[in-house]
Amino acid sequence: MAVITPVDEASIARAAAMLREGKLVAFPTETVYGLGADAANGKAVAAIYEAKGRPSFNPLIIHVADARALDDLVEWTDAAHLLASSLWPGAITLVLPRKTTSPISLLASAGLDTLAVRIPSHPVAQKLLRAAGIPIAAPSANASGKLSPTSPLHVAESLGDKVDMILAGGRSQIGVESTVVNMTTATPIILRPGGVTQEQIERVLGYKIDSHHDTSTPGLRQEATDGKAYAPASPGMLASHYAPHLPLRLNAEQPNTNEAFLAFGPDSFIKGGAARLNLSPNGDTGEAAANLFAMLRELDTPAHTGIAVAPIPDTGLGVAINDRLRRAAVR
Ligand code: TXA
Ligand code: MG
Repeated sequence: MAVITPVDEASIARAAAMLREGKLVAFPTETVYGLGADAANGKAVAAIYEAKGRPSFNPLIIHVADARALDDLVEWTDAAHLLASSLWPGAITLVLPRKTTSPISLLASAGLDTLAVRIPSHPVAQKLLRAAGIPIAAPSANASGKLSPTSPLHVAESLGDKVDMILAGGRSQIGVESTVVNMTTATPIILRPGGVTQEQIERVLGYKIDSHHDTSTPGLRQEATDGKAYAPASPGMLASHYAPHLPLRLNAEQPNTNEAFLAFGPDSFIKGGAARLNLSPNGDTGEAAANLFAMLRELDTPAHTGIAVAPIPDTGLGVAINDRLRRAAVR
């Protein structure tokens, strides 16, 4: 298993050198842990897909320390400048036209003429990106289709020795992935709800935008697994994703006898269930997002027949939570 390495100046320098040599380094971000590699090195990028067992049509997010580092990679738009200056560093990813001269590996963007780019705010991610001095391609540091990691231990459990180093940076404060926004259309479109809410984006832009993520439950699975016929706007949005081993039952008012219960809000009046965790006893969607993947992992044991999940309001980070839960419930 890869060693979980505590963060200090020396380990950051070592991690940066490993990235420049084409190795894989898992690192903390404020959303989830990322599995990083030199985005311009095709072989290093291929190693990411291999370690995750990820379908190669699914493009990666390119991470940099500051917006200037993006000038060589993408074509800016006015709206992108606005979002970048207000919401970066942070939990939002912008999809922009790829510069024809961009050095980023075509494999990283799965052959698309766009690039998804992000500036994370986590201090360890910032230090690592600065020390490496190169754009870093990084998907969430989990096996493809499984729960995203919000702690270094989750990464070690999911990827083991397929990663060369895991930088330990505590628990991810936000706990759901970044919001992916397509900036190549006349008005921006949310492709994946995430750590920055639609309202926050609209406030910065000064106008309403669309969200094109799939809000249907099951049904899409056939399409998603046969590969060929499936060409979604954000190719990573397979219907089945973030999957625990146990079946999930959503919007459950109470658990059945052998089910584990994932509660939200006051739960003392709810009876039954084989085990119980509460995403946020006070009903705070931010706190719930931070706990989501860790609690799903904890309840996902053969001791239970399934996980019943309480209704989560579709407001604030609840939109991203419900998106992940719907995908986790598809089998
Ligand atoms: O919070 C996050 O975004 C984390 C941390 C590590 O930064 N990363 C992450 O990456 O969640 P990943 O690879 O698991 O998800 C990237 C998402 C996928 O849905 C992918 O399809 C979409 O971004 N994406 C990447 N490039 C794209 C592009 N050029 N056009 C449209 N969607 C794109
Ligand atoms: Mg992922």
